[in-house]
Amino acid sequence: MRFDKKRVVITGGTGGIGQAVVELFAREGAQVLFSDYRAQDCSDYCDALRARGLETSYLAGDLRQKSYCEALIADAEAKFGGIDILVNNAGIIPRGTILETTDDMWFSALDVNLTAVFFLCRAAIPQMQRAGGGAIVNTSSTWGLYPGPGHVAYCTSKAAVAALTKNLARDHAADGIRINAVCPNEVNTPMLRSGFLRRGIDPDNAVAELGKTVPLGHIAEPAEIADVIAFLASQDARYVCGATVEVTGAKAVYG
Ligand SMILES: NC(=O)c1ccc[n+]([C@@H]2O[C@H](COP(=O)([O-])OP(=O)(O)OC[C@H]3O[C@@H](n4cnc5c(N)ncnc54)[C@H](O)[C@@H]3O)[C@@H](O)[C@H]2O)c1
Repeated sequence: MRFDKKRVVITGGTGGIGQAVVELFAREGAQVLFSDYRAQDCSDYCDALRARGLETSYLAGDLRQKSYCEALIADAEAKFGGIDILVNNAGIIPRGTILETTDDMWFSALDVNLTAVFFLCRAAIPQMQRAGGGAIVNTSSTWGLYPGPGHVAYCTSKAAVAALTKNLARDHAADGIRINAVCPNEVNTPMLRSGFLRRGIDPDNAVAELGKTVPLGHIAEPAEIADVIAFLASQDARYVCGATVEVTGAKAVYG
C-alpha cells in the first residue's frame, strides 16, 4: 500500500474531490484526518467509510479562522504524532466580474482558497522538517494559470495558490518537503454543478454537453483528480517539486 501508516491531513474532505481523496488515502493504508465545515457532513462521511471498513477521523471547522487551521495541524500531531502529507483541497468559487464582486466575496475567496493554505502550510512544515520530509499538494486550478471570464476573486486566489506553491517548494525542497499543486479544469462536483443550477440549467445535461468539448470525451470525475493528487503525494513523484500540474483531458483552457 502506497501510503501505509502515512499521516495525512485533507481539507474539504466531504466535498466532491475531497471525498475521493479521503477514500483513496484511507484505502491505501494512510492515517487520515480530514476537515470540512459542517460537523454532521464529516460525521456522516466518516460513518459511511467505516461501514466499508475504512477508518478515518475528522475535525470540523471553518478554514477562515486561523485558530481552526492551526488546531487541525495540532490535532494531527496529537492523534498521529506528526504529519507526512497535507492536501489543501477545500475551496469556494464566488462568481462575478470585479463590478459584481462584493468585499465579502473577495475576502471569502482569499480567506478560504489562499490564506487557509498559508496558515496550514506554516503550521505543518515544522512538523515535516522534524520528520525529515513530507509532501504538500495544494489545489489551484487551470483558471489560476489562465484566468477564465467573470470569476475575478476565484481566479486571483487560485493564481496566488500557484505562486505560493512554487515559492514554498523552492524554500523547503532542501528539507525533503515536496510541494506541488494540482490544476484541474472542469470536474463533476457540487462546485461545478451549482454554477449550472444557479443559471437554471439541468446539471446532468450540462455535464454531458461539456464532456463533448473535452478531447478525452468527458469532464473529469473526482477520482481522476484524486489519483493525480495521490501521485504527487507519493514516492513515485519524488523528483516532482514546485510543479503546477494541469489536468484537462487535453481541453484547451485559454483562447
Ligand atoms: N470542480 C471543479 O470544476 C474544479 C476545477 C478546478 C479546481 N477545483 C478546486 O478543487 C477543490 C475542490 O473542489 P470541489 O469541486 O470538490 O468543490 P466542493 O464544493 O464539492 O468541495 C469543496 C469543499 O470545501 C469545503 N469548504 C469550503 N469552505 C470552507 C471553509 N470555510 N471551511 C472548511 N471547509 C470549507 C466545502 O464545505 C466543501 O466540502 C477546490 O479548491 C476547487 O477550487 C475544482
